[in-house]
Amino acid sequence: MGWPRARSQVLKRNDKVHLSGVERTFPENDIIVSKTDLKGNLTYANKIFIDISGYTEKELIGQPHSILRNPQMPRVMFKVLWCMLQSGSEIFAYVVNRCKNGDHYWVYAHATPSFDMKGNIIGYHSNRRVPDRRILEEHIIPLYAKLREEEHRHASAKDGLTASTKMLESMLDDLGMDYDEFIATVGKERHGSRPSGRRRQGYDKETERCVWA
Ligand SMILES: Cc1cc2nc3c(=O)[nH]c(=O)nc-3n(C[C@H](O)[C@H](O)[C@H](O)COP(=O)(O)O)c2cc1C
Repeated sequence: MGWPRARSQVLKRNDKVHLSGVERTFPENDIIVSKTDLKGNLTYANKIFIDISGYTEKELIGQPHSILRNPQMPRVMFKVLWCMLQSGSEIFAYVVNRCKNGDHYWVYAHATPSFDMKGNIIGYHSNRRVPDRRILEEHIIPLYAKLREEEHRHASAKDGLTASTKMLESMLDDLGMDYDEFIATVGKERHGSRPSGRRRQGYDKETERCVWA
């Protein structure tokens, strides 16, 4: 399944939300958990999720996960996330979220589809842990800043997303990696360049589908 057309058509520039600049952190052993339906509406949030978000459980359940969307996140990362999940793959990603009062918190997220007995996707599930601060500061924050800048350089959100997708894909091409390899090795020692026999993982504009390794 490709990146859903409906989603790309409702791209909006809700980037003017209040941000306090205050970062919230959480203990190393805590896991922030949420579950969503097929549209990304929250069906479950654990206490750690609720506490850090600043919302009540009642305010969260039934709401789209984008209730936490922080404008510092490049849109392309959510495009990749949905692309992978809807194709039945798991995804690891660094994400910065916005709390109810405008504070923010960084996580290293693992999201997966949930399947029924017949293999149909019936929802999504995500666990988040404390991210590696060095990887965040040396690699992820600068990468996201570049992708966001590219998204904002264009008059329409749609064109911005196309451009940041291209930027991410060309970065992965230069590394000879798909997204999974990149996220697994970012900030770690990489041994030589790899002649990638793997198909690049990403969004294929022509077919409007994800291309998988
Ligand atoms: C399991 C799952 C977890 C998600 N976690 C987050 C999250 O922590 N923060 C976030 O902003 N979006 C998260 N999303 C993505 C949102 O659904 C949404 O695509 C994103 O916030 C961008 O919002 P927009 O598409 O309205 O611009 C998650 C989606 C799924 C399916």
